[in-house]
This record gives sequence, C-alpha cells and structure tokens, in this order.
Amino acid sequence: MKTMILCEKDLLKAAELLRLGQVVAIPTETVYGLAANAFDYSAVKSIFKIKNRTAQNPLTIHVCSLEQVFDLVKDFTNIARKLANEFWPGPLTMVLPKSNLVPSIVTAGSDFVAIRFPSNNLAKMLIKTIGFPVVASSANISGKPSSTKVPHVLNDFDGKIAAVLDGGECCFGLESTIVFLDSNNQKILRQGVIKKEDIEKIIGKTVSNLYQNVKCKHYSTNAKLIIIPSNKSLYVDYVNSYADVSSSGALCYDEDLEDLKIFSVSYGGERDFVSQSRKIFSALRELDLHSNIKTIYARCDRESSSGAVFDRIHEACDKIQRL
Ligand code: TXA
Ligand code: MG
Repeated sequence: MKTMILCEKDLLKAAELLRLGQVVAIPTETVYGLAANAFDYSAVKSIFKIKNRTAQNPLTIHVCSLEQVFDLVKDFTNIARKLANEFWPGPLTMVLPKSNLVPSIVTAGSDFVAIRFPSNNLAKMLIKTIGFPVVASSANISGKPSSTKVPHVLNDFDGKIAAVLDGGECCFGLESTIVFLDSNNQKILRQGVIKKEDIEKIIGKTVSNLYQNVKCKHYSTNAKLIIIPSNKSLYVDYVNSYADVSSSGALCYDEDLEDLKIFSVSYGGERDFVSQSRKIFSALRELDLHSNIKTIYARCDRESSSGAVFDRIHEACDKIQRL
C-alpha cells in the first residue's frame, strides 16, 4: 500500500478513505492519531493490528460536536458538561459510561468510553465532513513515542496506512489529559497540558490520580534510558566522565547542550514547560535515529520538568541513577 500525504485541500479525499474503512493518520492539537470509522468493526480492528496494540487497550472516540457525544454516552453528567464547557474543543479526554451504540471492540469490552473533542481545525473539519465520529489512537507503534510531525508518522507507518493528513507540527505535543468520570468518582488517568488543579477548579472538588499506578513501559527508545535527577553541573560532570562517547546520547535541557561532550538532544529549556511538551517526543525519536546509541542519559527532575513530561520520561525509563 502506498501511503498518500494529503493536505487541507485534500480533505474530501481523506474523508472518502475513512468512509471506505481505511486508516488515515490525522493531526490533532496534542499528537497525530491513527483514525478510522468508529462504527466499522474491521476498520477499528485494523488500528489494533497496524499499531501492534493489544485488544485489551481501548480506543478513544473523537467527535466534532456535543450532539455526537450525546449519542455515545448513557448520561452526560453535570460534571462532564462543566468540563466540556471549559475545555472542549481541546486536549481533554473524558471517560464516561457508554451507550449501546458504542461497539465493544472500541472500549475493549468496558462499559466506559473515552471521548475527545479536538480543537485542531483539520481534525474538526474532517470529522464534520465524514459525518461520523472516528476512533483515533496516537500514531506510533505500541510502546514507542507518540508522533508530533508527519515524518514521525511515516517512520512508523509508511506503506501500512492509506494516508496521512499533514497539519504540520502539533501545537501541544503531548497526549490529552484523561479524566475518568462516573456518578460518584473522578480520577485523572493520564496527565497532559490540562492539569489536575485546572479540572478541580472547574468541578469544585478534588480528584484522585490514577496515573501513578502505571507500571507498563511506554514511549520506549531503542537504547536503554537512564534518568539522572540532578542539577546541571552534577549531570554534566557525570555524563562527561562516565558515558562512552561512541555509544551514548544525552536527553537534556537547552542549558546543558554547550557543556556535554557526547551526542545530545534537548527537550526544551529548564522549567520551560511549553517547549518541553512540544519537543519531548521529537527528541526521543531523534535519539532513536542513531543506531549506535545504546544508552541515553536523561536529565529530568520534578522541579525542572512539567508533571506531564516527567511522567512520560519516567515511563520511557529503564533505570534511575541518583548521584
Ligand atoms: O491526545 C490524545 O489523546 C491522542 C490524540 C490522537 O487524540 N490520542 C491518544 O490515544 O493518546 P492513545 O490510544 O495513544 O491513548 C488513549 C489512552 C490509552 O491509554 C487508553 O488505555 C485510554 O486512553 N482509554 C481509552 N479508552 C478508555 C476507556 N474506555 N477507559 C479507560 N481508558 C481508556
Ligand atoms: Mg498512545
């Protein structure tokens, strides 16, 4: 299969492919997603296959209006309404009790469905044009870093999907915040650019964090990734003294670049949470392009990285080295 690269003027072509049950990679404001018709069993199934994703891991339905949401859920509660008013369209996914209309392959058998209303214009226009919601899962082979640009998508899926709709670089660069909502329980399942406190402010009560329980390795690089939680001078001294120049790489802040003697890729400035979100997946993928790199030394700590970026790097990590 030849993967077409489509742009805004080809929106009708992308819509036609989705109607035919094909998989199309689409831009969103968070990361690129592999999209398919949410109501077409074999199209949904092919997303699991192409990503090498287990059938037990459910997919998120992407919509372009609240009307579409009402059909997909049993009850759109007051809390969900408040969050939708504040954050939709945008980088928030809500997990709600599903209606009978949602195929069980989408939710992996769960009675809850994850729903997101993206703000990216191309994504919204595409869903509007096709007239039905799509499932979309981050456009990466399972376990690998998400994609924030078309070359990332092609690196993983060239020849395996019908098309990618080019929307340039994703503006946030991190996957959406996921909040689980049932009538008496609210939990954050994944951190994103919308923070726990932002959600608590809108719903007027505290929510718990479930993401701390995540055990599975995610966002893996080919090389072993070691986190060094320390300040610049200790990190730079350690890496320059112990890392083998020919087989190591550094994942660092902008400030570290000039002093490191090994191949180094920055994921933004220290405490610059916006640039870190945008760059983290590109940085992990860039390190992956260098097959000689067997060990990555990453500087990351709670003060200097945003909570959401801290989480991603820890999910990619094999070992934490305290100095
Ligand atoms: O920003 C995003 O959310 C991106 C873009 C493409 O929209 N999508 C994305 O999809 O990150 P994915 O499949 O990589 O991650 C979705 C997460 C998974 O961890 C999945 O387990 C969880 O959402 N999820 C989906 N449906 C769920 C459900 N019914 N209950 C609990 N978790 C669910
Ligand atoms: Mg993902």
